[in-house]
Amino acid sequence: MIQMYNVDLRYAADSYGLRDVSLSLERGEFAFLTGPSGAGKTSLLRLLFGALRPTAGQVLVAGRNITRLPSALVPELRRQIGVIFQDFKLLPDRSVSENVAVALEVAGVPRRETRRRVWSLLQRLGLGDKLEERPLSLSGGEQQRVAIARALANDPPLLLADEPTGNLDPELALDIMDIIADAHARGTTVIVATHDPALLDCYPHRRLQLEAGRLTLDLPLEAFPAGLGRVVRTSAP
Ligand SMILES: Nc1ncnc2c1ncn2[C@@H]1O[C@H](COP(=O)(O)OP(=O)(O)O)[C@@H](O)[C@H]1O
Ligand SMILES: [Mg+2]
Repeated sequence: MIQMYNVDLRYAADSYGLRDVSLSLERGEFAFLTGPSGAGKTSLLRLLFGALRPTAGQVLVAGRNITRLPSALVPELRRQIGVIFQDFKLLPDRSVSENVAVALEVAGVPRRETRRRVWSLLQRLGLGDKLEERPLSLSGGEQQRVAIARALANDPPLLLADEPTGNLDPELALDIMDIIADAHARGTTVIVATHDPALLDCYPHRRLQLEAGRLTLDLPLEAFPAGLGRVVRTSAP
């Protein structure tokens, strides 16, 4: 699904987002992208989404070469990718349900099916009573859940999530991870950037660790205790 070969991403002469990163992710894999703030996690996800081009090296996503992808083909690439970025980019003048429905409408899903899917996703995310609200009237955590619903509505082949649980309390964070795990179980390839040890400890997944733009550790799934899905869940106090 994803191949990166000796990828550099340079923002300025002396400022690198990524340095000589090579990695490969199979279709259906789940990987955490870890590393301290400034390590390059967001840069890597933006690169995979076609929002940035590498300065050197090759990036392939779903068989397309991002390095050479004409701008006209970027929207087609993005239809394959669900993204949860830290700035949610919700449409302020549309309701919560309309925000989630957008991706389905673009993909030509019939209106009745769109309504059904949007409703059931938002119910699951605890937003069943906010369907007609405007995003800006919601809390940060609620907006985050709307962004997650939007990213997953279309069952994307690839999900890129940038600290998707960052603004959420721990219990809700685990609920979000469960929903992402469901998408993974249905076949979605997933990359979740996080530096939250609670999440990393709860879910055994491959770990890609970045430090100062370099990939310093690639721990395979086998390095973690056996079992799929959540291992531990601490109950709320
Ligand atoms: N738009 C930008 N312009 C210049 N430098 C940037 C830009 N975005 C990120 N950087 C730099 O790239 C490095 C990696 O940043 P980022 O990918 O945001 O890391 P992370 O998401 O792991 O915190 C940092 O040193 C950051 O300052
Ligand atoms: Mg970041």
